[in-house]
Amino acid sequence: MRRVLVTGANKGIGLALVEAILREHDDTFVWLGSRDRGRGEAARAGLLRAEPSWADRVAVLELDVASDASVAAAARTVAERHAGEPSPLHAVVSNAGIGIGMSDLRAVLEVNTLGVRRVCEAFLPLLRPAGGRIVNLTSASGPSFVSGCSPERQRFLVDPTITWPRLEAFLEECLALRGAAAFEAKGLGDGSPYGLSKACANAYTVLLAREHPGLRINACTPGFIETDLTRAYLESSGKTAQQLGMKPPAEGTRAPMFLLFGEPQGNGRYYGSDAQRSPLDRYRSPGSPPYTGEP
Ligand SMILES: NC(=O)c1ccc[n+]([C@@H]2O[C@H](COP(=O)([O-])OP(=O)(O)OC[C@H]3O[C@@H](n4cnc5c(N)ncnc54)[C@H](OP(=O)(O)O)[C@@H]3O)[C@@H](O)[C@H]2O)c1
Repeated sequence: MRRVLVTGANKGIGLALVEAILREHDDTFVWLGSRDRGRGEAARAGLLRAEPSWADRVAVLELDVASDASVAAAARTVAERHAGEPSPLHAVVSNAGIGIGMSDLRAVLEVNTLGVRRVCEAFLPLLRPAGGRIVNLTSASGPSFVSGCSPERQRFLVDPTITWPRLEAFLEECLALRGAAAFEAKGLGDGSPYGLSKACANAYTVLLAREHPGLRINACTPGFIETDLTRAYLESSGKTAQQLGMKPPAEGTRAPMFLLFGEPQGNGRYYGSDAQRSPLDRYRSPGSPPYTGEP
C-alpha cells in the first residue's frame, strides 16, 4: 500500500490530486490534509459520494502548515497510525498555498515557503528511506519572479549549493523591506510576495534534494487553474476562464502525478504543468522543449 499525504487537499488542485491518486492507483491510501477538520471531512464525503469503495483508502488529517504545533501533531498521528511499519509514507505533497494578490509577505511566506519546509522536515522521517518522494507545488510565478531580479539575485536563487541558513537570512532581509521601490532597489524586481515565496520554495526544494539524495524530491507548477486562489483575478479580468486559458483543477494534476508515480530524471528539479522539466529562472511555456541545463 503506497500512502500519500496531500496538504491543503480540501478543495482546488489538492482535492483533484487526491481523487486522481485514488482513481489511478488502486494500491494507494491518501491522507487528505486540511487545516479545518470540517472542510476536510466534507471533501472526503464528496469523494465517497462519487466512489463509495474509497472509504478505506482516504482519511482526513488535520494539518495547518503555518503552525509548528499542528504539523507536529499531524506527523504524530500518521506515525502512530502506521506504527511498526518500516515506512509509513510513499510521498508527501506540499500543495497548501495562498497569496495571489496578497501584500502581506510574512503571511504568504509562512504558508508557501516556511510551511513547505515545516511539512517536509516533520514528515521526512516517515518517508520510505529509499525512493520516498516529496512533491512541492510551487508555481511559474517563482521562475518569473527570478527572471525579474538582478543577475546577482538570480545567481543566489538558483544556486545549487544554497543552504537553509542562507535562504533564511535572505527571507529575513526581504521581510525588512517596505514597498515595491525598496525591493527594486535591492535587485528583487517588484517584490511580489507570491512570486518571491514560490521562488524560495523552489530553492528550498533544490537544497532538500541535495541533502537527501536517496529520496525523490521535486517541485512543479500545476498550470493556470481555476480555483479559489485565482478567482479574484478571473473576476476582475472581465474575461471567462476559457478566454484566459485557465483549466479545471483535474488538469492541474498532471505534473504532480508524474512526480508522485512516474520516473523523473535527476532530483531537486522544477517541472512545468506539462510534466516536463523547466528552468528555475525563467518561464517555459507548456509544450515547448524541456529544459536540459544545469541547475
Ligand atoms: N490555481 C493556479 O492557477 C495555481 C497556479 C500555480 C500554482 N498553484 C499552487 O497550487 C496549490 C493549490 O492551489 P489552488 O489553486 O488549489 O488553491 P485553493 O483552491 O485556494 O486551495 C488552497 C488550499 O490550501 C489550503 N491552505 C491555505 N492555507 C493553509 C494552511 N495554513 N494550512 C493548510 N492548508 C492551507 C486551503 O485550505 P482552506 O480551504 O482551509 O483555505 C486549500 O485547501 C498552491 O500551492 C498554489 O500556490 C496554483
